[in-house]
Amino acid sequence: MKTISILGATGSIGTQALDVIKNNPEHFRLGAISIGRNINRLREILTDFTPHLVSVQDESVVKDLTSDYPHIEFTYGEQGLLDVASSSCDILLTAIMGSIGLKPTLKAIDNKTTIALANKETLVAAGDIVMRRAKENNVSIIPVDSEHSALFQCLKGENIKEVEQLIITASGGSFRDLTREELTHVTLKDALNHPNWSMGQKITIDSATMMNKGFEVIEAKHLFDLPTEKIQTVLHKESIIHSMVEFIDNSMIAQLGNSDMRTAIQYAFTHPERLHKNNPLKLSELHQLNFKPMDFHRFKMLKFAYDALEAGGTLATVMNAANEFAVGQFLQGQISFLEIEEIVERRMMMHDNIQNPDLETILSLDAQYKSNMR
Ligand SMILES: NC(=O)c1ccc[n+]([C@@H]2O[C@H](COP(=O)([O-])OP(=O)(O)OC[C@H]3O[C@@H](n4cnc5c(N)ncnc54)[C@H](OP(=O)(O)O)[C@@H]3O)[C@@H](O)[C@H]2O)c1
Repeated sequence: MKTISILGATGSIGTQALDVIKNNPEHFRLGAISIGRNINRLREILTDFTPHLVSVQDESVVKDLTSDYPHIEFTYGEQGLLDVASSSCDILLTAIMGSIGLKPTLKAIDNKTTIALANKETLVAAGDIVMRRAKENNVSIIPVDSEHSALFQCLKGENIKEVEQLIITASGGSFRDLTREELTHVTLKDALNHPNWSMGQKITIDSATMMNKGFEVIEAKHLFDLPTEKIQTVLHKESIIHSMVEFIDNSMIAQLGNSDMRTAIQYAFTHPERLHKNNPLKLSELHQLNFKPMDFHRFKMLKFAYDALEAGGTLATVMNAANEFAVGQFLQGQISFLEIEEIVERRMMMHDNIQNPDLETILSLDAQYKSNMR
């Protein structure tokens, strides 16, 4: 029996993780959770589960919740996230959105808790620091992102020195078939309509801009510690092959599955073992698998991510913060779709890169470049 705590329990990944726990009561129990502002969803969760600790974003709701659920301890704000991260459990699933996940992830690592990592922004913002801290504490970081779960599974039992390249697949997002010119007039509603995956709003927009794939390249670099030139991306519109590894003898191993994040979440919880799950890929879906080379002109945000990785230092931190700001503006209807990449590019260009930053520098740049500095 493993105790699982979740940062971001009301989100898309959080909800699917709760399904995994609910479907396997003999293997998993829920520990502590954090949510943001979706109190209605929290109340639904509390009809099925009894976490011992719940963190909410706003202090104002704590009094009512405490009187409605007297047997549960409530906490709030950034300190609440740290409280959840430091409460004892076997695995902390980081399914919160954005770089706000960084400090609680480090807290859990210091507590020697295994991390099931969905919150990729944490590794983009501060991958060197997080991975170093995990190594020092002998803590495993198990990927939940479907592409990295795929790579993790393909690399099981393999020697990383024998890897020729990692090939991360990309569905292409909501606008994969549009030209740059056609992107000028796309709407928020169009952008939120992902062809293959049902996900939270920010990652759906990140998929449409291809920033998400850029994040995944950076995430792969940190998780698997390979040089940038060994991390490639390819367009694969079916999202059936979640990613693949080519070895030095030209053998390739791919991981396949349907577009169901519960598979990767469950694997992160059970690794190195597997548990039965009842949602198989139909063989008929394998009849036609398409691949297209990635176009860096069409998907400029992916190029920005490779540039940030090459530059090292704080450029990826700034890129991530600028993107969080710009996507927030787009979601509020303040800017157009193409302005997202304009803002990210402008902020990256104005930044004087700092090599080997400490955590304080990263946190301060994150706050600065996430703010309205236009
Ligand atoms: N969805 C996917 O299929 C998928 C796949 C791979 C990786 N990921 C990664 O997983 C993470 C979560 O993605 P998602 O799609 O599940 O996002 P989501 O549906 O938007 O959920 C985000 C969660 O974070 C909480 N949250 C947001 N801001 C917060 C704040 N300031 N303080 C406290 N809690 C806050 C939200 O709370 P409320 O809703 O209660 O406000 C919600 O529980 C992201 O890093 C994403 O890139 C997602």
